[in-house]
Amino acid sequence: MSSNLSTLNTPTALIVLAAGKGSRMKSDLPKTLHPVAGAPMLWHAMRAGGTLAPQKSVVVTGFGGDAVKASALAYDDKVEIALQREQLGTGHAVLQAKAALDGFDGDALVLYADTPFIQPETLQSMAAARKTHDIVVLGFDVYDPSARYGRLVTEGDDLLEIVEFKDATENQRAITLCNSGVVMADRATLMSVLEDVTNDNAAGEYYLTDIVSIARSRGLSATVVKCEEAETMGVNSRAELARAEAAYQTRMRDSLLDKGVTMQAPDTVHVAWDTEIAPRAEIEPYVVFAPGVSVASGAKIRAFSHLEGAHVASGAVVGPYARLRPGADLGENTRVGNFVEIKNATLDAGAKANHLTYVGDAHVGAKANLGAGTVTCNYDGFNKHKTEIGANAFIGSSTMLVAPVSVGDGAMTASGSVITKDVAPGDLALARAQQVNKPGLAKRLFEKLKKIKESKTKGTT
Ligand code: UD1
Ligand code: CA
Repeated sequence: MSSNLSTLNTPTALIVLAAGKGSRMKSDLPKTLHPVAGAPMLWHAMRAGGTLAPQKSVVVTGFGGDAVKASALAYDDKVEIALQREQLGTGHAVLQAKAALDGFDGDALVLYADTPFIQPETLQSMAAARKTHDIVVLGFDVYDPSARYGRLVTEGDDLLEIVEFKDATENQRAITLCNSGVVMADRATLMSVLEDVTNDNAAGEYYLTDIVSIARSRGLSATVVKCEEAETMGVNSRAELARAEAAYQTRMRDSLLDKGVTMQAPDTVHVAWDTEIAPRAEIEPYVVFAPGVSVASGAKIRAFSHLEGAHVASGAVVGPYARLRPGADLGENTRVGNFVEIKNATLDAGAKANHLTYVGDAHVGAKANLGAGTVTCNYDGFNKHKTEIGANAFIGSSTMLVAPVSVGDGAMTASGSVITKDVAPGDLALARAQQVNKPGLAKRLFEKLKKIKESKTKGTT
């Protein structure tokens, strides 16, 4: 077969292998749907592959195929799904993508969904190496030489073969250069070489890794591009999943610090795969970011806060002990204090909810102030209703706003009010019982109660 070396801007197709059960996870959930930093490993792999701007993407599914398919389509509705009915090995898995990529003129990049943290620069290096070699394999120097990764047998720049750990001799196992599983080659070459792969090995599987020796026997070339082990860490068990999470968190936190985000105790801050924090924002200790959060420059998230699906604009201060739920949109210089929960609500610039408050399905106007214990009663047991609070409104402490309801600009509610009717701009709403004082009654009541207690104690001794 003639060499088909890549030139600049070779179109690329992405093949993500996600058919395996992952028996060592001891889980009903397919392995690649186990989350790291709040997203299934599969999404991390698809995102990594996506950095090469592939013209086509195929996800190979098998065990738990419907769930894996749904997850893949949720990430990218244009992705093609190829079903591998029986998991006969990684080589067999790649062949399942053949039909979907038939006629595709360009390179194929194979990623394993259980090795999902490959960096964009690494894939760029692989694409560059394709200019000189037919097959490019991503390798790494393994930290623990007893790890059961495939071994890369090299000679100078050339990759001679990949030997699976199970099949390796003692001498081959001593090699510390290991296989990540990531492979790049011309699509037609890859599929053609794969046709010659057999399952004559220790696992009785069709190994993708065999393509190297087969390609070389056809006069094609192969080489290795190296990356850090943390990038290519494979996840096969719960322990490895926890390690992958830790490694991912460390990398994300380091990159946030590099970018100019202040964190006094970065090890205590937990981020999600898509957390966006701008330079000059400050994150105090023990803050958790679930997916979908963006924090603007100059905002401050104070200790022990939990944020999900929320945006925090510049100058805003959140927490300590605040909870932002999906749809929380905090404007510039807003304040959301301790034990305050915000859900599906917009706070315009300068609005404040400083203590013990629930704001759900609401819009709070600029510089409005919500007193301690304010609650938007948004749910009637069946439907959700909206609360509208105008700019500069003052909501007295412990006001219950029974939605749907609105409080106009500059209006006020008295503390302890239960507001069921709209309040016009500039009005004061008072909705609580009139206070009645009974002179001396407390004193007389205390004496009476004291006597009752004394007579009871006598009876029992
Ligand atoms: C594989 C490599 C090994 C490498 C390691 C890196 C082979 C033969 N071995 O081993 O050299 O060091 O990854 O992590 O490729 N899959 C399918 N269909 C199958 C089998 C697997 O889709 O029939 C998918 C799995 O879902 C997984 C990936 O391929 O995402 C890798 O499979 P796995 O069984 O975990 O391979 P390893 O034994 O880890
Ligand atoms: Ca694996």
